[in-house]
Amino acid sequence: MKVGFVGAGKVGCSLGMLFATTQHNLVGFYSRTSTSAKDAADFTKSKHFQNLETLIKESDTVFITVPDDAIGKVWDSIKHMSIAGKMICHCSGSLSSKIFRDIEETGAFGFSVHPLLAVSDRYSSYKELPKALFTIEGNEGHIGEIKSLLEKSGLKTVSIDVSVKTRYHGAAVMCSNLVVALVQATQDELRKCGFYDAQLGDAIAPLLLGNVNKVLSVGTKDALTGPIERNDVGTVEKHLAVFSDIDREIYRILSIKTLEVAKEKHPESDYSQLELLLNNQED
Ligand SMILES: NC(=O)c1ccc[n+]([C@@H]2O[C@H](COP(=O)([O-])OP(=O)(O)OC[C@H]3O[C@@H](n4cnc5c(N)ncnc54)[C@H](OP(=O)(O)O)[C@@H]3O)[C@@H](O)[C@H]2O)c1
Repeated sequence: MKVGFVGAGKVGCSLGMLFATTQHNLVGFYSRTSTSAKDAADFTKSKHFQNLETLIKESDTVFITVPDDAIGKVWDSIKHMSIAGKMICHCSGSLSSKIFRDIEETGAFGFSVHPLLAVSDRYSSYKELPKALFTIEGNEGHIGEIKSLLEKSGLKTVSIDVSVKTRYHGAAVMCSNLVVALVQATQDELRKCGFYDAQLGDAIAPLLLGNVNKVLSVGTKDALTGPIERNDVGTVEKHLAVFSDIDREIYRILSIKTLEVAKEKHPESDYSQLELLLNNQED
């Protein structure tokens, strides 16, 4: 299966490099800026195309790895070309294959193929791709071919229903970008306690990394410690009294979620006082 890329950015370069090195099936790149396509082609030892139609003609499978907002526009250009029998994929987490409007009329098959990974670098992130789970949805008759294409390059895949793509992407955001926000809130509060920027890494690394490793090895219930689990109402009340604005709201809302885990872990405990405290503190 010969693979071509429209969009020579981080995901395009990374997936392209992986296909090139593992299956030698990479045709090359077309991109908005010709130098981007050329750089990606040089990197992957493939071709760069100045004409979109030529790339499409030479590829059996086309990955549209442009920003989400541009996927529909690229599709609008491609759908009038001769694409019957070709696989058309994009890599957006939030959009589904439905973005390829009227694809049935073209004879092509549409898919969304999303890596659960932050792809941060055009030239080195390809090494990280095999760690990620790729979620795939799209044409049911041909989804097996896309799975097989990825799996032959050592990638892990799972099918996802088209109806849950937005929820799925929101969930992924919670454990990646929103963790960044939680770390930011922690750092902001620690600065108010007198910590210097240089000390913040040492202060939070064992907590953050220890927690992530524990959650991944034993699950949320067994990993949980702290005042919520201990039903320490007085401590939580004092925390709420010193925090303000958004950090207070983050603490309160996440404590309500933490309480769900604590209740499941200790069904014998009466957490009603803590529950009342957390729910009665809305701004
Ligand atoms: N990065 C991640 O962590 C990540 C993770 C999972 C999924 N994704 C998804 O992967 C897709 C690509 O993201 P990315 O991070 O690789 O973006 P990116 O690094 O910004 O690359 C996008 C590339 O597409 C080119 N481009 C933009 N508009 C175009 C158009 N109309 N026609 C042709 N090329 C165009 C860009 O311009 P130039 O030609 O000017 O360079 C750039 O090379 C998105 O759907 C994103 O949601 C990203």
